[in-house]
Amino acid sequence: MSVTPVEPIIKIENLHFHYNPESEHPIHAIKGIDLKIRPGDYLVIVGHNGSGKSTLAKNLNVLLKPTEGDVWVKGMNTQDAANTLAIRSSVGMVFQIPDNQIVATIVEQDVAFGPENLGVPRDELRERVEWALGVVDMLEYRQRPPHLLSAGQKQRVAIAGVMAMKPEVLILDESTAMLDPEGRQDVLAAVRQLNEEGVTVIAITHFMHEAAEGNRVIVMEAGKIVMEGTPREVFSHVEELRALQLDVPQTTDLSYRLNQRDSTFPPDLVLVENVADEIQRRVNGRSEQ
Ligand SMILES: Nc1ncnc2c1ncn2[C@@H]1O[C@H](COP(=O)(O)OP(=O)(O)O)[C@@H](O)[C@H]1O
Ligand SMILES: [Mg+2]
Repeated sequence: MSVTPVEPIIKIENLHFHYNPESEHPIHAIKGIDLKIRPGDYLVIVGHNGSGKSTLAKNLNVLLKPTEGDVWVKGMNTQDAANTLAIRSSVGMVFQIPDNQIVATIVEQDVAFGPENLGVPRDELRERVEWALGVVDMLEYRQRPPHLLSAGQKQRVAIAGVMAMKPEVLILDESTAMLDPEGRQDVLAAVRQLNEEGVTVIAITHFMHEAAEGNRVIVMEAGKIVMEGTPREVFSHVEELRALQLDVPQTTDLSYRLNQRDSTFPPDLVLVENVADEIQRRVNGRSEQ
């Protein structure tokens, strides 16, 4: 059976990025990255501080341009200034600290700000704002001043603001880092729903269990991609990840430890349900003997 190859929505070829390239000490932050991101992917990027995750993300919506190599978004090269606006409206980015992204004094005005700047007409603007606030479950707060909201609510407003621009790709750069566990769950649920509706998601995170949300994980180290695969494939490399000062999700850690006691237990389970199922299966097996 022949499968029609899906055109990548983002294609990165031999990407290098230097900060301060003209100075005496340029910083070589990205050292030759090749990556294709397909429409509908939920790609999670992990790697410890300074490994180049944010620099990579900023190269995807023209906040930075490659010093060598190319990035294409829907076939548009980021080097060509004529593409900047179209790329920025296709690729939306949410940062770590929601306060820095909130610009208006009323929630719905804040959400309208981005699409208004893209020239979305009034009627459609109203629809989009309502839709985006609905997606993040913040409609009832539409008339409130953002500064009175919790950090999690603010972050959801920031996501709504990006969503109202209807990007095909949503990048979250440690967007759940400042939130409490409940706020984090709210944001993850909103992002999961958007991905189910077809939005391509690129999520940078410190929380390894969040990587289980994705269909692909890449691990960065010193400006390079050092591991790539499904969450289960990547997290099966427990020792290599530890050598990179990264953890595995607690579920995988448990599964790995159980495997060390009993080699028939799979060492690389990522989802809580899978660990529970495996244990249940064994308990049932035992009671049948
Ligand atoms: N604005 C900047 N100017 C100079 N160097 C920077 C700048 N931003 C990041 N860097 C450097 O680039 C490298 C990658 O940083 P970054 O992409 O922020 O990594 P991460 O997001 O994985 O923590 C680090 O060595 C960092 O110090
Ligand atoms: Mg960063």
